[in-house]
Amino acid sequence: MHIPKMLMAKEGPEFSRIVQGFWRLADWNKTKQETIEFIHGCLELGITTFDHADIYGEYRCENLFGEAWADALIDRQSVQIVTKCGIQLITPEHPNKSYNTSEKHILLSVDNSLRNLRTDYIDLLLIHRPDPLMNAREVASAFSKLRGSGKVKHFGVSNFLPCQFELMASAMDFPLITNQIEYSVLNMEAQADGSVDLCQKRGIAPMAWSPFGGGRLFTDHTEQIDRLTKTLRRIGEEMGGASIDQVALAWILKHPVHFVPVLGSGKIERVQSAVRSLELSMTRDQWFSIWEASNGRDIP
Ligand SMILES: NC(=O)c1ccc[n+]([C@@H]2O[C@H](COP(=O)([O-])OP(=O)(O)OC[C@H]3O[C@@H](n4cnc5c(N)ncnc54)[C@H](OP(=O)(O)O)[C@@H]3O)[C@@H](O)[C@H]2O)c1
Repeated sequence: MHIPKMLMAKEGPEFSRIVQGFWRLADWNKTKQETIEFIHGCLELGITTFDHADIYGEYRCENLFGEAWADALIDRQSVQIVTKCGIQLITPEHPNKSYNTSEKHILLSVDNSLRNLRTDYIDLLLIHRPDPLMNAREVASAFSKLRGSGKVKHFGVSNFLPCQFELMASAMDFPLITNQIEYSVLNMEAQADGSVDLCQKRGIAPMAWSPFGGGRLFTDHTEQIDRLTKTLRRIGEEMGGASIDQVALAWILKHPVHFVPVLGSGKIERVQSAVRSLELSMTRDQWFSIWEASNGRDIP
């Protein structure tokens, strides 16, 4: 199956309907050649959008990807690279983990990402988390400079509450095109806090990180997960034999806001299984029955 593309916002960009994340790349223990094969495997499925952050793998993942990318012989225009900045891990210069959304830090971080990723532009830059010391005008000024220099094409945020999103958007001369938020059958907070509604109001597609709860859906045995597993299995049977991962993704994809799930597996066969969720059609009854299994109560 070859998955379709989707406009993230009226102004673009166009992303693949499912995105592959590289947070865990350093843990996959792949050789450079295996990483190249994994990237090609994603492209064969139609996954052309790759999600990164400066800090992934303690600042190592962008570079691991970049080393593979440099030898992968793939047309840069055929893929979309997303990365993030704004979190500072503990290093000799920074004895405390902190957030830094100063203009200086954002500009420096993008230059590092470009160097590590072996590319001369980033398709989408996100502020990784809302920084309590954020000066929205300063972030907007950094974004304008990066846009003007052609280093970054589009901008967005991640894990921002609606009021934080509105603050950031109000300081900018051009639109934020997404909010990357946690959303899955295990975590529906973004629905309750208004983040999903704000995306729908603004006509932008949110990106859903940890679509399988970081893998907990397959490994943990809480009451919530046991209820969910039973329900997802039943619905998979009703759908003619879909697996748990496929039903869990179909639940995210059914939302009219057009969530773009960001997958985290390093195993191409799991990515292949996940994209087949796009062929499934879920009824409202099935969607709400998963909601009830997750929340452990009837719909009010
Ligand atoms: N913006 C943010 O704050 C933020 C936060 C977290 C993540 N992210 C992004 O979202 C991406 C995805 O997050 P995630 O890695 O937590 O996603 P996830 O897909 O929910 O979890 C990935 C984990 O689940 C396992 N897994 C996946 N499919 C499986 C299956 N069918 N059966 C059994 N195990 C399975 C994977 O193991 P295997 O590798 O062994 O398959 C991996 O350990 C990240 O790479 C990153 O790009 C963003």
